[in-house]
Amino acid sequence: MSFSKVGVVGLGIMGAGIVEVFARAGYEVTGVAESIPAVDAGQANLAKSLSRAVSKGKLSQEESDAITARVIFGSEFKLLAECDLVIEAAPEILSLKTEIFSQLDSVVKPSGILATNTSSLSVTEIAHATKRPAQVIGMHFFNPAPVQKFVEVISTSESDPKTVAQIVELGNSLGKHLAQISDQPGFIVNKLLLRYLNHAVQILDSGQASREQLDSAMRELSNYPMGPCELLDLIGIDTCVEILKTIYADTGLEIDQPATGMVQLVKAGNTGRKSGSGFYDYADAHQVPTDANDEIKTQVHNDLLIAYLGDCIAMEATGYATKADIDSGMKLGCGLPEGPFEVISRLGLAKVRVAQAELATRTGVVAYQPLAL
Ligand SMILES: NC(=O)c1ccc[n+]([C@@H]2O[C@H](COP(=O)([O-])OP(=O)(O)OC[C@H]3O[C@@H](n4cnc5c(N)ncnc54)[C@H](O)[C@@H]3O)[C@@H](O)[C@H]2O)c1
Repeated sequence: MSFSKVGVVGLGIMGAGIVEVFARAGYEVTGVAESIPAVDAGQANLAKSLSRAVSKGKLSQEESDAITARVIFGSEFKLLAECDLVIEAAPEILSLKTEIFSQLDSVVKPSGILATNTSSLSVTEIAHATKRPAQVIGMHFFNPAPVQKFVEVISTSESDPKTVAQIVELGNSLGKHLAQISDQPGFIVNKLLLRYLNHAVQILDSGQASREQLDSAMRELSNYPMGPCELLDLIGIDTCVEILKTIYADTGLEIDQPATGMVQLVKAGNTGRKSGSGFYDYADAHQVPTDANDEIKTQVHNDLLIAYLGDCIAMEATGYATKADIDSGMKLGCGLPEGPFEVISRLGLAKVRVAQAELATRTGVVAYQPLAL
């Protein structure tokens, strides 16, 4: 099967980006959201991203016009009837996604593949909202979708191998680096990333460090492109809370319970950049956070880093994912300068294990203990 028409449902941060990925690659794209204002917002997101690329000289005005001309937008699911592939990028709420998949199943042609961009929810449960579970798959893009090169392809025990192969071929043709993973909460990257982000907010909630100290620590001492509070604002704090709820339901570990600071911001409607404020206010241009307290920055940097490296070691040791996929995911999905196993090689595994044991003893969190060799 070759794909020519691609549909996208949900036109927020991710949906608009996925529309751009496919339209840039020459596909005819149909973008659908639940209401006219949501469609208008999605269309505006695409226009803004393209005009930014033109102003930076990364795209010509003619190319931008051609991309725009390949996309149609609307609020009716029936516009997706002839799509070979539809990717859903609606909010991270299982009941909403199953409702959307049930509707998609009734309007999209029988040969069409249905994909979800979910960050953590069960693809199997989503697939079962349709009568074609063999043709339902996870295709997890990263934010911003046109920039980040990594895509997780999630298959269920019922996925047709042909469907998986077609999606892998398609992802490769988009120039993305793929990792294939079975249906597990948080897949590879979000299982690691969200625990790190939650850890940062737990530190913030405890009063041990400020948002500026946390963010400047990770920027300055690990060269991350942004700190954890900034990244939460970029992803959307509501989305992060939902992902953590799914991971917490699976692990039952306190470290995965969404931190109070995040939950409260969501309750107040401050979901991050998309709402205009979150950990930071975005009324004016965002300034790179700085702080002069090197002692606190070093402490929180080391704690966040060591806990995260420990999670990566455990993920690989339990056969959940390979070192290569974990390293690629964190670099190409999150823009980190080094993969965790590259960091471990640089620091030395023995040193990381000693630091894990010290962190576990100091904080009393058993989950930070190094794995038995
Ligand atoms: N934000 C990220 O960094 C990120 C990264 C990877 C994956 N994801 C996943 O992508 C999905 C979307 O996240 P987002 O950040 O783009 O969310 P968002 O809140 O920015 O956008 C959600 C979009 O869905 C639309 N929508 C809501 N209800 C709908 C319905 N019934 N039918 C059709 N459209 C509907 C909204 O109007 C909006 O356009 C989630 O599953 C999320 O976990 C997010």
